[in-house]
Amino acid sequence: MISDKIPGGIIGSPKIPGDKSISHRSIIIPSISNGICKVKNILKSDDVLHTLEAFKDMGVKIIENKDEIIINGKGLNSLKKPRKDIYLGNSGTSARLLIGLLSAQKFNSKIIGDSSLSKRPMKRITDPLTKMNAIIKTYNGSLPIEIQGRNLTSADIDITIPSAQIKSGILLACINTEGISNITENSVTRDHTEIMLESFGAKIKISKKDNKKYIKIEGKNELKSKNINVPSDLSSSAFFIIATLINKNSKIILKNINNNPTRNGLLIALKKMGAKISILNKRYNNNEEVCDIEVLSSELNGCELEADMAALMIDEYPILSIAASFANSPSVFKGLSELRVKESDRLNLILKNLLNCGVECKVVDDNLYINPKKNYEIINNNIRTDFDHRIAMSFCVMGSKIGPLNILEADSINTSFPTFKKEFNEVGGKIY
Ligand code: S3P
Repeated sequence: MISDKIPGGIIGSPKIPGDKSISHRSIIIPSISNGICKVKNILKSDDVLHTLEAFKDMGVKIIENKDEIIINGKGLNSLKKPRKDIYLGNSGTSARLLIGLLSAQKFNSKIIGDSSLSKRPMKRITDPLTKMNAIIKTYNGSLPIEIQGRNLTSADIDITIPSAQIKSGILLACINTEGISNITENSVTRDHTEIMLESFGAKIKISKKDNKKYIKIEGKNELKSKNINVPSDLSSSAFFIIATLINKNSKIILKNINNNPTRNGLLIALKKMGAKISILNKRYNNNEEVCDIEVLSSELNGCELEADMAALMIDEYPILSIAASFANSPSVFKGLSELRVKESDRLNLILKNLLNCGVECKVVDDNLYINPKKNYEIINNNIRTDFDHRIAMSFCVMGSKIGPLNILEADSINTSFPTFKKEFNEVGGKIY
């Protein structure tokens, strides 16, 4: 895929698809609840469709209409042993959440994925589940994973890696486990699972002290379904926000975007950089904060982000590093170790690709330093993505300023944003 310099500005109101994290949970949680759940604006991307197929294969009746899916949930223990291995493609969220859920079911199952997912660390979720007496066999700590479903025992679990996937996998095991479990999160991560479980009637109590979060959850209480309207994804919006900020004569309005405070670190960082961003019409939808966002072309300053920002915007560092490349002073983003274990080693690919675009940057320990210039001379315009959707979309935005860039293996964009190219070109982008 080629992304070239754009002739004018980025102008319009692109349609951003449903939030990926909330979409996964909008299939998983209603599937183990009681009653009918109509889900609107669900993201129909490869990752989410793998979750959907998994639950269909476990006997959940799911009807797919044009504008909504309808899930007929029959309770915590209604899932059936899948007829085949559960294939989850590239989706780390599906894998971590399902490992937790399936370890407390009454049947055995096996989870497999594509070559990238099969390299990602899974001990971070299987180790805490083992404390609940789960029986899970990994292949050197990764997929394929065999789960021997059984009754687990409640436990007190301290999560030291900042990861909503780990927390959510554990919560989905606890929800079907007799007794009270206590989960401590040492840094706050996205809380979509807690929000949805609570609104479906789970016995869950949450408290916070300093930057720690304490979750008390009582299992074996049946959940009751509610209809869900999935807000649009801030992480997918980010590519349009940055494209607008760094290109002249640009203005966009994004509608109905998730603005959950455990997810919106990007907006805080960009404000610090002097971005002209207005958050409009703040409201709540299924207990998730949503808003509209207006963005104008801006002169950006560099900024220093401490490690405590990382969990609040972990998926946005690739695109934020593009913004930093066009600021008028240097930036430092600290504490990015988790970026190394995403769909690719994102820290390494950000560095390599920015260097190839002519940007002066370096990684020291887990900190990324970017020293922007006025003009860039491309050294190598082939952008290596290792099939990582967010690296591909970030460098499409880079291409809109300095292109042409040749984005390799760009099909990966389908994992989270199948309509990206169409939407980007409709607001003035030049991707072909
Ligand atoms: C997600 C959590 C994050 C994020 C991923 C989605 C989720 O991963 O990077 O894209 O839906 O829970 P980690 O929990 O590994 O940080």
